[in-house]
Amino acid sequence: MIAGGWVRRVHRALAIAFTLAVIANFAVQGREALAFWVGVLTLIPLALLLLSGLHLFALPHMARWRAARAAGAPAGDERIRG
Ligand code: HEM
Repeated sequence: MIAGGWVRRVHRALAIAFTLAVIANFAVQGREALAFWVGVLTLIPLALLLLSGLHLFALPHMARWRAARAAGAPAGDERIRG
């Protein structure tokens, strides 16, 4: 959960930045040149959200793989034996 801690915080901050950027997109509607660049800038937090979100999605799976490996399970066996 150590890696998930700061990635989760970054994901949350990016979500706020992305939301503000979407609002900014509406605010500059009709001003074509400006709207284009605000649109491009909006994609940056969205791309980072995708990366950090995929990492958060993978975290529980990675924890299971590690636990299975530590328990001496063969590769590909995700069951945790008690
Ligand atoms: C682009 C692809 C995205 C992926 C793959 C993704 C994936 C995830 C995952 C896996 C979680 C953790 C859920 C959990 O632990 O229960 C999460 C949390 C969250 N996501 Fe995303 N997300 C994406 C985009 C976004 C966007 C666009 C927003 C909002 C603008 C957003 C806002 C949040 C928030 C607020 C949380 C909760 C963070 C916390 O725990 O404090 N995400 N996301």
